[in-house]
Amino acid sequence: MYTNATEMLKKAKAGHYAVPQININNLEWIKAALEMAQELNAPIILGVSEGAGKYMCGFKNVADMVKNLIGFMGITVPVALHLDHGSYDACYACMDAGFSSVMFDGSHYPIEENIAKTAELVKVTRERGISLEAEVGSIGGEEDGVVGTGEVADPAECKMIADLGVDMLAAGIGNIHGKYPENWAGLSFEALDAIQQLTGDMPLVLHGGTGIPEDMIRRAIELGVSKINVNTECQLSFAAAVRGYIEAGKDLHGKGFDPRKLLAPGVEAIKASVKEKMTLFGCVGKA
Ligand code: 13P
Repeated sequence: MYTNATEMLKKAKAGHYAVPQININNLEWIKAALEMAQELNAPIILGVSEGAGKYMCGFKNVADMVKNLIGFMGITVPVALHLDHGSYDACYACMDAGFSSVMFDGSHYPIEENIAKTAELVKVTRERGISLEAEVGSIGGEEDGVVGTGEVADPAECKMIADLGVDMLAAGIGNIHGKYPENWAGLSFEALDAIQQLTGDMPLVLHGGTGIPEDMIRRAIELGVSKINVNTECQLSFAAAVRGYIEAGKDLHGKGFDPRKLLAPGVEAIKASVKEKMTLFGCVGKA
């Protein structure tokens, strides 16, 4: 069932579990994520960065592909299609293309400008029945070539943005996109606790879900995180599985070069990663 992310995240916050945002890259990714969500009877958010949108030949193509697959595969669990780290203009482009959810990442603007633009988008998304994620304090690591440092958001600024009426709020708590460095200090639960106390029922979003130790994920969910973004982990497991297939020389036997065969281990690997995350996040059976 194609829907926005509002209800699924309200339920997650009240039920003390998290919904995964699985970033998608192509047909195989969408299929794998949808198949596993349906098998585990879990809600899912499919994330699309602006770069991935371009790679998949535009937001309209992505939205159409996701909707068509939901119909073709008979997916009944709630599925939201969400713009990840969008610019102000990309939010409008995705709304027009048929996305059910958008993230406006205004964290690099001065807070006044982030507030003004987010407030405008609250109005528009509400009118159009689309859910909105905002961000305070840039999140470190690499996302489409932009490198940050694992920043921690100011709880007072988080409250200002939350009070605008967004549906979910991403706040930096030392998390980083991509692999975590050896000397990573870990998540700041002190900051998360302060943010959650000031923002109340607001579902909080944890970006950089790849490689965070399980005990930290559980603690973050206890402290109000209701959506966790995972991208790199599925890419790593997909690549490792396809590499294994090729290194074993399977593409050289019979019709092993057929992409439907060659990419199949990768699809299974994405499914296994999604299953692991859904189990850890506690959303199995919550559709
Ligand atoms: P990872 O690539 O670290 O899993 O982060 C994903 C993410 O936060 C997308 O916004």
